[in-house]
Amino acid sequence: MRSPAGSHGRGALVYSSHMHIETLAVHAGRHTDPATGAVAPPIHLTTTFERARDGQYPLGFSYAREDNPNRRALEECLAAIEGGTQALAFPSGLAAIAALMQGLEPGDHIVAPDDVYYGLRKVIGEVFGKWQLEVSYVDMTDLDALTATLRPNTRLVWIETPSNPLLKITDLAAVAAIARRANAISVCDGTFATPILQRPLDLGIDMVMHSTTKYIGGHSDVLGGSLATRFDNYLFERARKSQQFGGAAPSPFDCWLTLRGVDTLPCRVRAQTGTAGRIAAFLESHPAVEAVHYPGLASHPGHAIAARQMSGFGGMLSFQVRGGRERAIETVARAAIFTRATSLGGTHSLIEHRASVEGPHTRTPQNLLRISTGLEHAEDLIADLTQALGAAAEV
Ligand SMILES: Cc1ncc(COP(=O)(O)O)c(C=O)c1O
Repeated sequence: MRSPAGSHGRGALVYSSHMHIETLAVHAGRHTDPATGAVAPPIHLTTTFERARDGQYPLGFSYAREDNPNRRALEECLAAIEGGTQALAFPSGLAAIAALMQGLEPGDHIVAPDDVYYGLRKVIGEVFGKWQLEVSYVDMTDLDALTATLRPNTRLVWIETPSNPLLKITDLAAVAAIARRANAISVCDGTFATPILQRPLDLGIDMVMHSTTKYIGGHSDVLGGSLATRFDNYLFERARKSQQFGGAAPSPFDCWLTLRGVDTLPCRVRAQTGTAGRIAAFLESHPAVEAVHYPGLASHPGHAIAARQMSGFGGMLSFQVRGGRERAIETVARAAIFTRATSLGGTHSLIEHRASVEGPHTRTPQNLLRISTGLEHAEDLIADLTQALGAAAEV
Protein backbone atom coordinates (compact mmCIF):
# COMPACT_ATOMS: atom_id res chain seq x y z
CA MET A 1 0.00 0.00 0.00
CA ARG A 2 1.24 3.50 -0.77
CA SER A 3 1.40 5.55 2.38
CA PRO A 4 0.38 9.22 2.49
CA ALA A 5 3.90 10.10 3.52
CA GLY A 6 5.41 8.12 0.67
CA SER A 7 3.10 9.30 -2.08
CA HIS A 8 2.75 12.94 -1.20
CA GLY A 9 6.10 13.47 0.44
CA ARG A 10 4.52 15.15 3.45
CA GLY A 11 2.49 14.33 6.53
CA ALA A 12 2.87 11.56 9.08
CA LEU A 13 1.91 7.99 8.32
CA VAL A 14 -1.59 7.70 9.72
CA TYR A 15 -2.62 4.25 8.52
CA SER A 16 -1.18 0.92 7.59
CA SER A 17 -2.58 -2.16 5.90
CA HIS A 18 -2.95 -4.20 9.11
CA MET A 19 -5.48 -1.72 10.54
CA HIS A 20 -9.17 -2.57 10.66
CA ILE A 21 -11.35 -1.57 7.74
CA GLU A 22 -13.22 1.08 9.78
CA THR A 23 -9.91 2.85 10.43
CA LEU A 24 -8.78 2.51 6.82
CA ALA A 25 -12.13 3.83 5.59
CA VAL A 26 -11.57 7.07 7.51
CA HIS A 27 -7.79 7.50 7.18
CA ALA A 28 -6.47 5.81 4.04
CA GLY A 29 -5.61 8.37 1.36
CA ARG A 30 -6.29 11.29 3.70
CA HIS A 31 -3.92 13.74 5.33
CA THR A 32 -4.39 17.12 6.94
CA ASP A 33 -3.98 19.80 4.28
CA PRO A 34 -0.46 21.18 4.75
CA ALA A 35 -1.41 24.61 3.32
CA THR A 36 -4.28 25.34 5.73
CA GLY A 37 -4.52 22.57 8.33
CA ALA A 38 -7.96 21.66 6.95
CA VAL A 39 -9.06 18.24 8.17
CA ALA A 40 -11.56 17.68 5.37
CA PRO A 41 -9.57 17.46 2.13
CA PRO A 42 -9.78 20.39 -0.27
CA ILE A 43 -11.22 19.84 -3.76
CA HIS A 44 -8.49 20.57 -6.28
CA LEU A 45 -10.42 21.78 -9.30
CA THR A 46 -7.29 22.70 -11.21
CA THR A 47 -6.71 20.98 -14.54
CA THR A 48 -3.00 21.79 -14.66
CA PHE A 49 -0.07 21.99 -12.24
CA GLU A 50 2.94 24.31 -12.30
CA ARG A 51 6.36 23.02 -13.29
CA ALA A 52 9.39 23.87 -11.16
CA ARG A 53 12.08 26.10 -12.71
CA ASP A 54 13.99 23.01 -13.79
CA GLY A 55 10.92 21.82 -15.70
CA GLN A 56 10.11 18.99 -13.28
CA TYR A 57 6.90 18.33 -11.36
CA PRO A 58 8.25 17.88 -7.84
CA LEU A 59 4.77 17.27 -6.33
CA GLY A 60 4.01 14.52 -8.82
CA PHE A 61 1.09 16.09 -10.70
CA SER A 62 1.18 17.62 -14.18
CA TYR A 63 -2.28 17.43 -15.77
CA ALA A 64 -5.53 16.44 -14.09
CA ARG A 65 -6.56 13.74 -16.58
CA GLU A 66 -3.39 11.79 -15.88
CA ASP A 67 -3.50 12.20 -12.11
CA ASN A 68 -4.84 14.68 -9.60
CA PRO A 69 -4.83 14.93 -5.81
CA ASN A 70 -8.47 14.00 -5.27
CA ARG A 71 -8.32 10.95 -7.52
CA ARG A 72 -5.07 9.83 -5.97
CA ALA A 73 -6.53 10.08 -2.47
CA LEU A 74 -9.58 8.06 -3.52
CA GLU A 75 -7.47 5.42 -5.26
CA GLU A 76 -5.23 5.02 -2.22
CA CYS A 77 -8.25 4.55 -0.01
CA LEU A 78 -9.96 2.10 -2.38
CA ALA A 79 -6.80 -0.02 -2.60
CA ALA A 80 -6.47 0.00 1.18
CA ILE A 81 -10.06 -1.02 1.97
CA GLU A 82 -9.97 -3.71 -0.72
CA GLY A 83 -6.70 -5.20 0.54
CA GLY A 84 -5.11 -4.55 -2.86
CA THR A 85 -1.82 -3.01 -3.87
CA GLN A 86 -3.31 -0.49 -6.31
CA ALA A 87 -6.69 0.84 -7.41
CA LEU A 88 -8.01 2.97 -10.23
CA ALA A 89 -11.04 5.28 -10.04
CA PHE A 90 -13.33 5.72 -13.04
CA PRO A 91 -16.27 8.03 -13.83
CA SER A 92 -18.74 5.10 -13.58
CA GLY A 93 -18.82 1.38 -12.95
CA LEU A 94 -19.32 0.76 -16.64
CA ALA A 95 -16.33 2.95 -17.48
CA ALA A 96 -14.24 0.65 -15.25
CA ILE A 97 -15.69 -2.41 -17.03
CA ALA A 98 -15.09 -0.85 -20.46
CA ALA A 99 -11.49 0.07 -19.56
CA LEU A 100 -10.85 -3.54 -18.63
CA MET A 101 -12.42 -4.87 -21.84
CA GLN A 102 -10.33 -2.44 -23.91
CA GLY A 103 -7.25 -4.30 -22.70
CA LEU A 104 -8.36 -7.52 -24.40
CA GLU A 105 -7.22 -8.49 -27.91
CA PRO A 106 -9.50 -9.48 -30.80
CA GLY A 107 -10.20 -13.21 -30.50
CA ASP A 108 -9.78 -13.30 -26.71
CA HIS A 109 -12.38 -15.29 -24.82
CA ILE A 110 -14.31 -14.03 -21.78
CA VAL A 111 -16.37 -16.18 -19.44
CA ALA A 112 -19.13 -14.37 -17.53
CA PRO A 113 -22.07 -15.46 -15.37
CA ASP A 114 -25.33 -16.21 -17.18
CA ASP A 115 -27.17 -13.86 -14.79
CA VAL A 116 -24.54 -11.10 -14.95
CA TYR A 117 -25.54 -7.43 -14.51
CA TYR A 118 -27.35 -6.69 -17.78
CA GLY A 119 -25.16 -3.65 -18.49
CA LEU A 120 -22.12 -5.90 -18.85
CA ARG A 121 -23.87 -8.01 -21.49
CA LYS A 122 -24.82 -4.81 -23.29
CA VAL A 123 -21.31 -3.34 -23.28
CA ILE A 124 -19.73 -6.62 -24.42
CA GLY A 125 -22.32 -7.06 -27.17
CA GLU A 126 -22.99 -3.55 -28.37
CA VAL A 127 -19.70 -1.73 -27.75
CA PHE A 128 -17.13 -4.51 -28.03
CA GLY A 129 -19.07 -6.71 -30.46
CA LYS A 130 -16.98 -5.44 -33.37
CA TRP A 131 -13.74 -6.34 -31.55
CA GLN A 132 -14.50 -10.02 -32.13
CA LEU A 133 -14.26 -10.95 -28.48
CA GLU A 134 -15.59 -14.44 -27.80
CA VAL A 135 -17.95 -14.64 -24.83
CA SER A 136 -19.50 -17.56 -22.97
CA TYR A 137 -22.18 -17.02 -20.37
CA VAL A 138 -22.23 -19.83 -17.85
CA ASP A 139 -23.84 -20.71 -14.53
CA MET A 140 -20.91 -19.83 -12.25
CA THR A 141 -22.45 -21.81 -9.41
CA ASP A 142 -21.78 -24.96 -11.51
CA LEU A 143 -17.99 -25.35 -11.35
CA ASP A 144 -17.96 -28.27 -13.82
CA ALA A 145 -19.84 -26.16 -16.35
CA LEU A 146 -17.35 -23.32 -15.81
CA THR A 147 -14.37 -25.64 -16.29
CA ALA A 148 -15.91 -27.04 -19.49
CA THR A 149 -16.33 -23.52 -20.87
CA LEU A 150 -12.67 -22.56 -20.58
CA ARG A 151 -10.61 -22.43 -23.77
CA PRO A 152 -6.91 -21.90 -24.52
CA ASN A 153 -7.76 -18.29 -25.45
CA THR A 154 -9.75 -17.56 -22.24
CA ARG A 155 -8.20 -14.42 -20.79
CA LEU A 156 -10.85 -13.18 -18.40
CA VAL A 157 -13.19 -14.91 -15.98
CA TRP A 158 -15.79 -12.44 -14.77
CA ILE A 159 -17.65 -13.08 -11.53
CA GLU A 160 -20.45 -11.18 -9.87
CA THR A 161 -21.40 -12.26 -6.37
CA PRO A 162 -23.98 -11.71 -5.03
CA SER A 163 -25.41 -11.29 -8.53
CA ASN A 164 -27.80 -8.64 -9.76
CA PRO A 165 -30.77 -9.16 -9.44
CA LEU A 166 -31.05 -12.84 -8.43
CA LEU A 167 -28.47 -12.68 -5.60
CA LYS A 168 -26.81 -15.88 -6.79
CA ILE A 169 -23.62 -16.74 -4.92
CA THR A 170 -20.39 -17.79 -6.63
CA ASP A 171 -17.67 -19.63 -4.74
CA LEU A 172 -14.84 -17.10 -5.08
CA ALA A 173 -11.95 -19.29 -3.93
CA ALA A 174 -13.01 -22.16 -6.21
CA VAL A 175 -13.45 -19.95 -9.28
CA ALA A 176 -10.15 -18.15 -8.60
CA ALA A 177 -8.35 -21.52 -8.59
CA ILE A 178 -10.06 -22.65 -11.80
CA ALA A 179 -9.20 -19.38 -13.57
CA ARG A 180 -5.59 -19.54 -12.38
CA ARG A 181 -5.15 -23.07 -13.73
CA ALA A 182 -6.42 -21.79 -17.10
CA ASN A 183 -4.03 -18.79 -17.02
CA ALA A 184 -7.01 -16.45 -17.11
CA ILE A 185 -7.38 -13.33 -14.98
CA SER A 186 -10.30 -13.46 -12.54
CA VAL A 187 -12.26 -10.29 -11.81
CA CYS A 188 -15.10 -10.01 -9.29
CA ASP A 189 -17.79 -7.35 -9.50
CA GLY A 190 -18.22 -6.80 -5.77
CA THR A 191 -20.75 -3.96 -6.00
CA PHE A 192 -23.50 -5.70 -3.97
CA ALA A 193 -21.15 -7.00 -1.27
CA THR A 194 -18.78 -4.03 -0.84
CA PRO A 195 -15.26 -4.51 0.58
CA ILE A 196 -16.82 -4.48 4.04
CA LEU A 197 -18.61 -7.80 3.63
CA GLN A 198 -16.50 -9.61 1.06
CA ARG A 199 -12.75 -9.63 0.30
CA PRO A 200 -12.26 -11.33 -3.07
CA LEU A 201 -8.52 -10.52 -3.26
CA ASP A 202 -7.94 -12.42 -0.01
CA LEU A 203 -9.65 -15.43 -1.59
CA GLY A 204 -7.33 -15.48 -4.61
CA ILE A 205 -9.32 -13.36 -7.07
CA ASP A 206 -6.99 -11.16 -9.15
CA MET A 207 -9.00 -7.93 -9.39
CA VAL A 208 -12.16 -6.44 -7.90
CA MET A 209 -14.44 -4.02 -9.68
CA HIS A 210 -17.12 -1.87 -8.05
CA SER A 211 -19.75 0.51 -9.21
CA THR A 212 -18.85 3.07 -6.53
CA THR A 213 -22.08 4.81 -7.58
CA LYS A 214 -23.71 2.37 -5.17
CA TYR A 215 -22.59 1.58 -1.61
CA ILE A 216 -19.13 3.11 -1.73
CA GLY A 217 -20.40 6.59 -2.68
CA GLY A 218 -23.45 5.65 -0.67
CA HIS A 219 -25.73 8.68 -1.08
CA SER A 220 -27.10 8.37 -4.64
CA ASP A 221 -25.36 11.58 -5.63
CA VAL A 222 -22.23 10.59 -7.54
CA LEU A 223 -21.39 8.11 -10.31
CA GLY A 224 -18.13 6.21 -10.13
CA GLY A 225 -16.34 2.94 -10.64
CA SER A 226 -13.21 1.27 -9.36
CA LEU A 227 -10.78 -1.47 -10.17
CA ALA A 228 -8.41 -2.82 -7.54
CA THR A 229 -5.68 -5.38 -8.02
CA ARG A 230 -3.55 -7.53 -5.76
CA PHE A 231 -0.66 -7.83 -8.21
CA ASP A 232 0.63 -6.08 -11.33
CA ASN A 233 -0.98 -7.53 -14.43
CA TYR A 234 -1.31 -6.42 -18.02
CA LEU A 235 -5.08 -5.90 -17.94
CA PHE A 236 -4.81 -3.58 -14.94
CA GLU A 237 -2.01 -1.62 -16.63
CA ARG A 238 -4.03 -1.32 -19.84
CA ALA A 239 -7.03 -0.12 -17.81
CA ARG A 240 -4.75 2.50 -16.28
CA LYS A 241 -3.77 3.70 -19.78
CA SER A 242 -7.43 3.84 -20.69
CA GLN A 243 -7.98 6.07 -17.65
CA GLN A 244 -4.91 8.29 -18.09
CA PHE A 245 -4.54 8.51 -21.87
CA GLY A 246 -7.98 7.40 -23.04
CA GLY A 247 -9.68 9.92 -20.78
CA ALA A 248 -11.88 7.70 -18.57
CA ALA A 249 -11.10 9.95 -15.62
CA PRO A 250 -13.56 10.98 -12.87
CA SER A 251 -13.71 14.63 -11.89
CA PRO A 252 -11.97 15.86 -8.71
CA PHE A 253 -15.35 16.73 -7.19
CA ASP A 254 -16.73 13.26 -7.93
CA CYS A 255 -13.63 11.71 -6.33
CA TRP A 256 -14.04 13.94 -3.29
CA LEU A 257 -17.71 13.01 -2.88
CA THR A 258 -16.98 9.30 -3.26
CA LEU A 259 -14.17 9.44 -0.73
CA ARG A 260 -16.42 11.23 1.72
CA GLY A 261 -18.89 8.38 1.30
CA VAL A 262 -16.22 5.84 2.22
CA ASP A 263 -15.90 7.35 5.73
CA THR A 264 -19.28 5.92 6.69
CA LEU A 265 -19.28 2.83 4.46
CA PRO A 266 -18.73 0.26 7.24
CA CYS A 267 -21.54 1.68 9.43
CA ARG A 268 -23.96 2.10 6.56
CA VAL A 269 -23.42 -1.38 5.14
CA ARG A 270 -23.83 -3.08 8.51
CA ALA A 271 -27.05 -1.17 9.23
CA GLN A 272 -28.42 -1.93 5.76
CA THR A 273 -27.49 -5.61 6.14
CA GLY A 274 -29.40 -5.85 9.42
CA THR A 275 -32.48 -4.29 7.86
CA ALA A 276 -32.30 -6.46 4.73
CA GLY A 277 -32.17 -9.60 6.89
CA ARG A 278 -35.33 -8.56 8.71
CA ILE A 279 -37.13 -7.69 5.48
CA ALA A 280 -36.10 -11.00 3.88
CA ALA A 281 -37.46 -12.97 6.87
CA PHE A 282 -40.70 -10.97 6.73
CA LEU A 283 -41.14 -11.52 2.99
CA GLU A 284 -40.37 -15.23 3.25
CA SER A 285 -43.36 -15.73 5.52
CA HIS A 286 -45.74 -13.47 3.53
CA PRO A 287 -48.52 -15.31 1.65
CA ALA A 288 -48.35 -12.91 -1.33
CA VAL A 289 -44.69 -13.75 -1.93
CA GLU A 290 -43.66 -16.69 -4.09
CA ALA A 291 -39.88 -16.62 -3.53
CA VAL A 292 -37.27 -14.49 -1.76
CA HIS A 293 -33.71 -14.21 -3.02
CA TYR A 294 -31.43 -13.28 -0.13
CA PRO A 295 -28.22 -15.17 0.67
CA GLY A 296 -28.81 -14.73 4.38
CA LEU A 297 -31.83 -17.03 4.30
CA ALA A 298 -31.09 -20.67 5.11
CA SER A 299 -33.34 -21.55 2.15
CA HIS A 300 -31.05 -19.74 -0.33
CA PRO A 301 -29.05 -22.26 -2.43
CA GLY A 302 -25.85 -20.23 -1.96
CA HIS A 303 -26.31 -19.68 1.78
CA ALA A 304 -23.47 -21.96 2.96
CA ILE A 305 -20.95 -20.45 0.53
CA ALA A 306 -22.09 -16.92 1.35
CA ALA A 307 -21.73 -17.65 5.08
CA ARG A 308 -18.16 -18.81 4.42
CA GLN A 309 -16.98 -16.00 2.16
CA MET A 310 -18.99 -13.00 3.39
CA SER A 311 -19.01 -11.42 6.83
CA GLY A 312 -22.64 -10.33 6.30
CA PHE A 313 -25.22 -10.93 3.58
CA GLY A 314 -25.67 -7.37 2.35
CA GLY A 315 -28.42 -4.81 1.91
CA MET A 316 -29.81 -6.10 -1.41
CA LEU A 317 -32.59 -8.62 -1.93
CA SER A 318 -35.18 -9.51 -4.50
CA PHE A 319 -38.48 -11.33 -4.31
CA GLN A 320 -41.15 -12.71 -6.59
CA VAL A 321 -44.76 -11.71 -6.05
CA ARG A 322 -47.60 -14.20 -6.52
CA GLY A 323 -49.92 -13.18 -9.35
CA GLY A 324 -47.31 -12.27 -11.97
CA ARG A 325 -46.08 -9.07 -13.54
CA GLU A 326 -49.16 -6.90 -12.97
CA ARG A 327 -49.34 -7.74 -9.28
CA ALA A 328 -45.64 -6.99 -8.92
CA ILE A 329 -45.96 -3.62 -10.64
CA GLU A 330 -48.99 -2.81 -8.51
CA THR A 331 -46.97 -3.56 -5.35
CA VAL A 332 -44.30 -1.09 -6.42
CA ALA A 333 -46.92 1.51 -7.26
CA ARG A 334 -48.30 1.33 -3.71
CA ALA A 335 -44.99 1.63 -1.91
CA ALA A 336 -44.86 4.87 0.08
CA ILE A 337 -41.58 4.89 2.01
CA PHE A 338 -39.63 2.92 -0.57
CA THR A 339 -38.73 5.14 -3.50
CA ARG A 340 -39.60 3.73 -6.94
CA ALA A 341 -36.19 4.01 -8.55
CA THR A 342 -33.39 1.93 -9.94
CA SER A 343 -29.83 1.84 -8.55
CA LEU A 344 -28.86 0.82 -5.03
CA GLY A 345 -26.63 1.34 -2.05
CA GLY A 346 -27.88 4.79 -1.00
CA THR A 347 -29.52 6.03 2.17
CA HIS A 348 -33.08 5.83 0.74
CA SER A 349 -34.67 2.41 0.36
CA LEU A 350 -35.47 1.72 -3.28
CA ILE A 351 -37.84 -0.72 -4.96
CA GLU A 352 -38.10 -1.55 -8.63
CA HIS A 353 -39.70 -3.89 -11.11
CA ARG A 354 -36.44 -5.18 -12.45
CA ALA A 355 -37.59 -6.62 -15.79
CA SER A 356 -38.93 -3.18 -16.80
CA VAL A 357 -35.49 -1.68 -16.20
CA GLU A 358 -33.66 -4.37 -18.12
CA GLY A 359 -35.90 -4.16 -21.19
CA PRO A 360 -37.41 -6.62 -23.67
CA HIS A 361 -34.49 -9.10 -23.69
CA THR A 362 -34.40 -9.50 -19.94
CA ARG A 363 -33.94 -12.95 -18.39
CA THR A 364 -35.28 -11.68 -15.05
CA PRO A 365 -38.66 -13.15 -13.94
CA GLN A 366 -41.52 -10.74 -14.71
CA ASN A 367 -42.83 -10.92 -11.14
CA LEU A 368 -39.50 -10.01 -9.54
CA LEU A 369 -39.01 -6.87 -7.46
CA ARG A 370 -35.60 -5.74 -6.31
CA ILE A 371 -35.04 -3.91 -3.05
CA SER A 372 -32.09 -1.83 -1.92
CA THR A 373 -32.45 -1.22 1.80
CA GLY A 374 -31.56 2.25 2.95
CA LEU A 375 -31.09 3.66 6.40
CA GLU A 376 -34.74 4.01 7.42
CA HIS A 377 -35.98 1.95 10.37
CA ALA A 378 -36.68 -1.69 9.49
CA GLU A 379 -40.13 -1.61 11.10
CA ASP A 380 -41.25 1.32 8.95
CA LEU A 381 -40.03 -0.45 5.82
CA ILE A 382 -41.78 -3.68 6.77
CA ALA A 383 -45.00 -1.75 7.47
CA ASP A 384 -44.71 -0.17 4.02
CA LEU A 385 -44.26 -3.55 2.34
CA THR A 386 -47.14 -4.98 4.38
CA GLN A 387 -49.54 -2.36 3.09
CA ALA A 388 -48.16 -2.48 -0.48
CA LEU A 389 -48.40 -6.27 -0.74
CA GLY A 390 -51.78 -6.34 1.01
CA ALA A 391 -53.29 -3.63 -1.13
CA ALA A 392 -51.87 -5.15 -4.32
CA ALA A 393 -53.37 -8.53 -3.41
CA GLU A 394 -56.84 -6.93 -3.17
CA VAL A 395 -56.74 -5.44 -6.68
C1 LIG B 1 -23.52 -5.07 -10.15
C2 LIG B 1 -23.30 -3.84 -10.97
N1 LIG B 1 -22.16 -3.70 -11.66
C3 LIG B 1 -21.93 -2.60 -12.41
C4 LIG B 1 -22.85 -1.59 -12.54
C5 LIG B 1 -22.57 -0.39 -13.42
O1 LIG B 1 -22.21 0.70 -12.67
P1 LIG B 1 -22.51 2.24 -13.08
O2 LIG B 1 -24.00 2.41 -13.13
O3 LIG B 1 -21.83 3.01 -12.02
O4 LIG B 1 -21.89 2.44 -14.43
C6 LIG B 1 -24.05 -1.69 -11.82
C7 LIG B 1 -25.07 -0.63 -11.93
O5 LIG B 1 -26.21 -0.82 -11.59
C8 LIG B 1 -24.27 -2.84 -11.02
O6 LIG B 1 -25.41 -2.99 -10.32
